[in-house]
Amino acid sequence: MASMASAGSSSGSGPGSGRFPAGGNAFPHPSLTGIAQLERHEILYILAEAEQWVEFNRQPDKHCDLLSGLTIINAFFENSTRTLLSFEIAGKRLGADVVNMHAAQSSVKKGETLLDTAITLNAMRADAIVIRHGSSGAVDLIDGKVDCPVLNAGDGSHEHPTQALLDALALRHALDERGEGAEDFTGLVVTICGDIAHSRVARSNILCLQALGASVRVCAPPALMPAGIEMMGARPFVDFDAALEGSDVVMMLRLQAERMSGQFIPSTREYHHLYGLTKERLDRAAPDALVMHPGPMNRGVEIDSDVADMLDRSIITRQVEMGVAVRMACLDVLTRRARMLPGWEGPLGTGQWT
Ligand code: MLT
Repeated sequence: MASMASAGSSSGSGPGSGRFPAGGNAFPHPSLTGIAQLERHEILYILAEAEQWVEFNRQPDKHCDLLSGLTIINAFFENSTRTLLSFEIAGKRLGADVVNMHAAQSSVKKGETLLDTAITLNAMRADAIVIRHGSSGAVDLIDGKVDCPVLNAGDGSHEHPTQALLDALALRHALDERGEGAEDFTGLVVTICGDIAHSRVARSNILCLQALGASVRVCAPPALMPAGIEMMGARPFVDFDAALEGSDVVMMLRLQAERMSGQFIPSTREYHHLYGLTKERLDRAAPDALVMHPGPMNRGVEIDSDVADMLDRSIITRQVEMGVAVRMACLDVLTRRARMLPGWEGPLGTGQWT
């Protein structure tokens, strides 16, 4: 077994000790359904916990027995490559038995309701269920019906919390390497550009980045900008060039064609002309601005290859790397009560764990 810095030890002397509330109070949630439910210190706690797994994942031997004996079900009702793989690798590296359920091969196709499927998974005594679903709110619905922790791997246009957490970790590492690191993102200007209206990544990131002190700008054609986005605290822009002025980070999003009913843009060519991130356009942002994308990328539409592949500016591959570490941290933290780790056992006084 590979050595671990302090796997799962935050109840005592782990990475969070002294900086966060003790034991289970550091993360008093039974499930992770969205960033909206999290306090700033809880976000920082998951990021702190993930650090040990970043190191662990860089070793040749990447297996430990922390979750040995537990069964994790990845129930994906929508297509996914990187998120499913990332959760699968995370669970396996922690020693859990990981089972993937693809909706295309499941009884969902035979007309079974989402709740019946959830109740079936629960009856199999899963210890954690990771869910991706095309409908906003589907994960919260299931969370209320099962006995184990539920992790949202993306629900419709609503939230994708582990994506926002991994983005924060990737950003923090990139800033650290430049000697600009700090625990949070106070003073940082982040522009999120693309299909804001249909993007769960945008929603979770707006919440997460702001909780960590960043100023968030959102940029989209009017048809892809949700009404009332200002109420989330983000500053909306229609003109990408104007949004880029002074941006320290540019996060590009894919056009979520699968969630669009009807024509939202005249053509991808025109979209690229106005909203594609080219090298010339990136020059409008702050010098050395970092480039992010949650993937999958449509090169030549929202981002040009020469920007996506810029070694000193693009942190897209690092986002993928951090995804495994963040998901390991989430699986570890959320199963601590069931594993009765000292300080994590029993109901909490918050009323959130019953
Ligand atoms: C998602 O699942 O939302 C992805 O990570 C981003 C995308 O599909 O464009």
